[in-house]
Amino acid sequence: MVRVLICYASFSGNTKETAELIAETLRNDGYEICLYRIGSGNIPDPSLFDVIMIGSFTWAKGATPNDVKDFVYEVGYKPPYVFIFGTGDTQFGGDLLFCNAVDKLAKFYNTSYEPLKIEQSPRGSQEVRVIAWTKGVMKHCLQYLVK
Ligand SMILES: Cc1cc2nc3c(=O)[nH]c(=O)nc-3n(C[C@H](O)[C@H](O)[C@H](O)COP(=O)(O)O)c2cc1C
Repeated sequence: MVRVLICYASFSGNTKETAELIAETLRNDGYEICLYRIGSGNIPDPSLFDVIMIGSFTWAKGATPNDVKDFVYEVGYKPPYVFIFGTGDTQFGGDLLFCNAVDKLAKFYNTSYEPLKIEQSPRGSQEVRVIAWTKGVMKHCLQYLVK
């Protein structure tokens, strides 16, 4: 059984909704998942999971939220098979700063699959993108992982 850890930070709920949609997609496909809200207590041990997904919103002028930075430091190493998703809003600095925290995290973890960037809430027309990304990440991983 492939185990997936989904860690996310969310202030007003958009990234939480995205994380929950990812979790639902994975559950429906038979994966074992753990959903952890960054800052909500002890971080699950990443070494117990095959795949790790990290989600973040973007804060003022493209910043990564402090809770997410603390999480990264606390984990303290770069596990293999980390994938990044997040939400943002192009009204805060246009394309240049849109989901900038997602880009920074993906660069930091040197991810092997393109990160997912969602404009505000994932509900509605963007849901299909979240589902497609989740399935795409798992297909990509299963090349390397034994089920
Ligand atoms: C003060 C403030 C600054 C923001 N700056 C950015 C930004 O630079 N880039 C971006 O893409 N989104 C920016 N946003 C938008 C949030 O990232 C976006 O609303 C996101 O979906 C919030 O996620 P959450 O609902 O999970 O907290 C900003 C929002 C606020 C309130």
